[in-house]
Amino acid sequence: MQSNNLIFSYDMSKQFTAIAHPNIALIKYWGKRDSKLNLPAVGSISITLRDLFTKTSVEFDDQLTQDEMTLAGKLPDASDIKRVTEFLDLVRAQAKTTTFAHVISETNFPAQAGLASSASGFAALALASTRAAGLKLSKNELSILARRGSGSAARSLYGGFVEMKRGNTDDGIHDIAVQIHDEHYWPLDILVLITSEEKKSISSRDGMNLTRDTSPYYSAWVSSIDQDLRDMRNALAQKDFETVGEISEFNCLKMHSLIFSARPGIIYWNETTLALIQKIRELRSNGLSVFFTVDAGPQVKAICLPNHADRIERGLRTIPGIKKIIKTKLGPGAYLEHKNTALCPPAI
Ligand code: DP6
Repeated sequence: MQSNNLIFSYDMSKQFTAIAHPNIALIKYWGKRDSKLNLPAVGSISITLRDLFTKTSVEFDDQLTQDEMTLAGKLPDASDIKRVTEFLDLVRAQAKTTTFAHVISETNFPAQAGLASSASGFAALALASTRAAGLKLSKNELSILARRGSGSAARSLYGGFVEMKRGNTDDGIHDIAVQIHDEHYWPLDILVLITSEEKKSISSRDGMNLTRDTSPYYSAWVSSIDQDLRDMRNALAQKDFETVGEISEFNCLKMHSLIFSARPGIIYWNETTLALIQKIRELRSNGLSVFFTVDAGPQVKAICLPNHADRIERGLRTIPGIKKIIKTKLGPGAYLEHKNTALCPPAI
C-alpha cells in the first residue's frame, strides 16, 4: 500500500459510489490466525451472487468533525460506527489525510442475517472510499484492505468462483483473494432461502473467536481444509456438479459441527434451516441436481443446475417457515457506478 497509489492534486470533495455483491462460501472461512490484521486461519472458496448487492457512496468533507453514516437506510449502532470508522482510518492513513467522510450504504437484502452483508458492504466501502480519498489501488491491494473490514469481503471484489488464500507471513500480504473462474464459466442457479430476517445472535467474528478458544475440534478443522480446497478446485475445473456438491455439503456441515462444539455451543440454524437441508437431500435422491450450503446464519442456499431449478424451487416452497426465496445466478466483482471505471488489474 504505497503512497504512489495517491492521485496527486486530487479533489477530495467528489463522491464515489461502488456496488458489490455478497458471496457464499463453498469452502468456508472460519477462524483467524491474527485478529488485528484479520488474517484467516484457513483458505476458502466462494461464489459471488448477481442479484443481491450493496451500494455504497463515500464523500470526504473537511467540514465534518466525525464520520457520518447511514447504513441499510438506518442510523447505525455504536458497534457498526466503530467498525466503519476504523476501516476509514486505514484509508485515511494510506491517503495521508485526516478528513472525515459521509457514507451512505444500502442493501437489497436483509443485513447481518447470515447473507454476507459484511462481504458486499466492505468490498463496496473499500472501493468507494479509496477512490473518494484519491487512491487508486490494484485489486490485490483492495483485497488486502477489504479483508481488514471483513475476511469474506476480499472475495466479493471478484465475480464468479473466488478463492481466498491463507498466506504464511505475519504481514498478511499473501492473504488475498483471487478469481478461479469468472461468472460466465459455469451457469448455475442459486436459490437463497430466507428463513429469518432477524439480526443473528452472535457475529461471525465473535463466533470464530469463541470456537478457536473453546472447541476441541478446532485444530482438526484447520488442518483438514487444504484437502477440501484441492478437491474443490479440481471438481470446479471439471465442472463436476455432483462432486462440488458433495465437498460443499461436507465442508458446510463440518464447519457447523465445529461451531456447535464451541462452549457454549453456537447454533445459527432454526427448524426451517434443518427442514430445508433434509428436503434438498430428498429432492436430490429423486434425481434433481441440487446441493445446499449454510453460512453463519439460518438461511439456506440451494445451488442447482438451471434445468432443474424450477422443480427444486417448487419442492422447497412446500416447507413451512420460508419467508422469501431469491433466485440468482453468479455475478461480477465490485465496480464503480457511473464512472465507467474498471478496477485496476491485479499487481503482478
Ligand atoms: C460463515 O467474513 O463475516 O460466512 O472476517 O470476522 O468479518 P470477519 O468474518 P466474516 O465470516 C464469514 C464466515 C462464513 C464463511 C465464509 O463466508 O467463508
